[in-house]
Amino acid sequence: MSATPRAVVLVSGEGSNLQAIIDQVRRGALGLTLAGVVSDRPGVRALERAAAAGIAAHMVDHASDPPAFPGRLAAILTELQPDLVILAGFMRILPSELVDEYRGRMLNVHPSLLPKYPGLHTYRRALEAGDREHGSTVHFVIPALDAGPGIIQYRVPVHPGDTEASLRERVRAGEHLIYPRAIAWLAAGRVTLRDGAAWLDGERLTQPVVVDEARGAGASVAESPRPDIVCRQ
Ligand code: GRF
Repeated sequence: MSATPRAVVLVSGEGSNLQAIIDQVRRGALGLTLAGVVSDRPGVRALERAAAAGIAAHMVDHASDPPAFPGRLAAILTELQPDLVILAGFMRILPSELVDEYRGRMLNVHPSLLPKYPGLHTYRRALEAGDREHGSTVHFVIPALDAGPGIIQYRVPVHPGDTEASLRERVRAGEHLIYPRAIAWLAAGRVTLRDGAAWLDGERLTQPVVVDEARGAGASVAESPRPDIVCRQ
């Protein structure tokens, strides 16, 4: 890895997680540089956020030529030479060769308490199931969808009367806290993927580090180490 790791962020939409990452990079809290942002869709807000932050923004339009998409994406990544690849609301399944190339160096944030609800419509599924809590998980990316080892998880209680929108709003606010933190751990080499598990500071994580909504708000990424985290291992 380079002395200061280079990260590329893959996006498809709003880019609020991208913005949280940009904000923390600006504060010097992540220990990495952003080498570029790549979107699979034109005209998305995430591309505007990248441009506004002066980060090279690339667009590989999946819809214009789906079969060519994996090759075009791989070519851009080869050009950008990232040490780390961060999926932030990226709505495509990546070819397994690409995932393998960045094994242990590629993260995703998924809006559920994995292993519950891989795939789409996680808020709806949690509400329909009557779950008492929901949340989001940062995990290593492996070829199987949303199945890589979890690193950190943000949990919120489901309130009576919650809707998909209200739940999403609270969970997303938590993603903006936990995702930069996990990325900082990865950039610093504190979190690694080994023997099919995530390891943090040399300890195998038997479950992701848990941040509860009540405790998570306000904790800063710069402080990042574990004392301010409620860890339910
Ligand atoms: C996030 O909620 C993330 O969990 C999911 O996609 C959403 C992207 O949101 N993978 P944004 O584009 O970062 O605002």
